[in-house]
Order: sequence, then structure tokens, then C-alpha cells
Amino acid sequence: MCSSETLKKRFITTGIMSSMFLAALFLSVTSLLAQSGTDTYKSKCVMCHAADGSGNTPAGKATKTPPFSSDEMLKMSDTDFIQYTKDGRGKMPAYSGKLTDIQIKDVVAYIRTLQKK
Ligand code: HEC
Repeated sequence: MCSSETLKKRFITTGIMSSMFLAALFLSVTSLLAQSGTDTYKSKCVMCHAADGSGNTPAGKATKTPPFSSDEMLKMSDTDFIQYTKDGRGKMPAYSGKLTDIQIKDVVAYIRTLQKK
């Protein structure tokens, strides 16, 4: 006999399974994004901005790269950061055409994590 009780259980199990699947999918996508922001930073920005965002590297000192934790930087919005990364500023190279909009957005999100320290 296929009681409504069995059906209900089945329905609930399927519901739990699919929300777990969605959660796993969401987590892997977000960690993938974080990963690509980190990678971009490490390959393109770290020589001046330093791993900790302090700008404390030989190239950073030569170009007077300011630390991301400075008051001025903390006041800047994501939109400002994205714009500066695209257009460059002073000794900071322009990355428009070299990085995609998505890569720039991800790398800015990564910079935000450096500012929290
Ligand atoms: C050649 C060294 C160098 C590299 C490489 C570099 N930067 Fe910079 N960056 C600078 C300097 C110098 C400044 C300060 C510019 C100014 O304000 O005059 C700066 C400033 C910034 C700012 C803040 C805007 C500002 O002008 O205060 C952001 C955001 C930034 N960089 C992001 C990045 C990202 C993202 C990358 C890698 C994709 C990167 N930078 C690579 C040197 C560098």
C-alpha cells in the first residue's frame, strides 16, 4: 500500500536532498569566485600591493603604493576601486582590456578581505 505517509516522507527527503545540492553548488561557486580573485591578485597585483595589501614590496615602495588599509582607501567604494583598476591612476597600471569585468570585480572583493585585517 502506498500511503500518503510514504509519499510525504519521499517528498520531504527529495526536498532536503535538493536543498543540500543547491547549498553545495552555491558554496562551490562562491569559493571558485574567491579563488579567481585571489589568483588575479597574486599574479597581477601582489608585486606592488604586497600579499597583505600593505604595499610593502620593492616595487610597491618604488611606486609609492599606498596600503589598502589606509583611511583614504577604506573610504573608497567598490565602484571607485573597480574604476581605478580599469583606468589606472598615477603609477598604478590600467587593467581595462587586460582583465575582464568579472575578474576586476573578484579582485576588488579580494582586496576588501585584506582591508578587514
Ligand atoms: C606597478 C605597481 C602596481 C601594480 C602592479 C598594481 N598597482 Fe594598484 N596601485 C599602485 C599605486 C602606485 C597606487 C596609488 C595610485 C595613486 O593614487 O596615485 C595604486 C592604487 C590602487 C587602488 C586604489 C586607487 C587609488 O589610486 O588610491 C586600487 C583599487 C588598486 N591599486 C588596485 C590594484 C589591482 C586590483 C591590481 C592588480 C590587478 C593592482 N592595483 C596592481 C601600484 C600598482
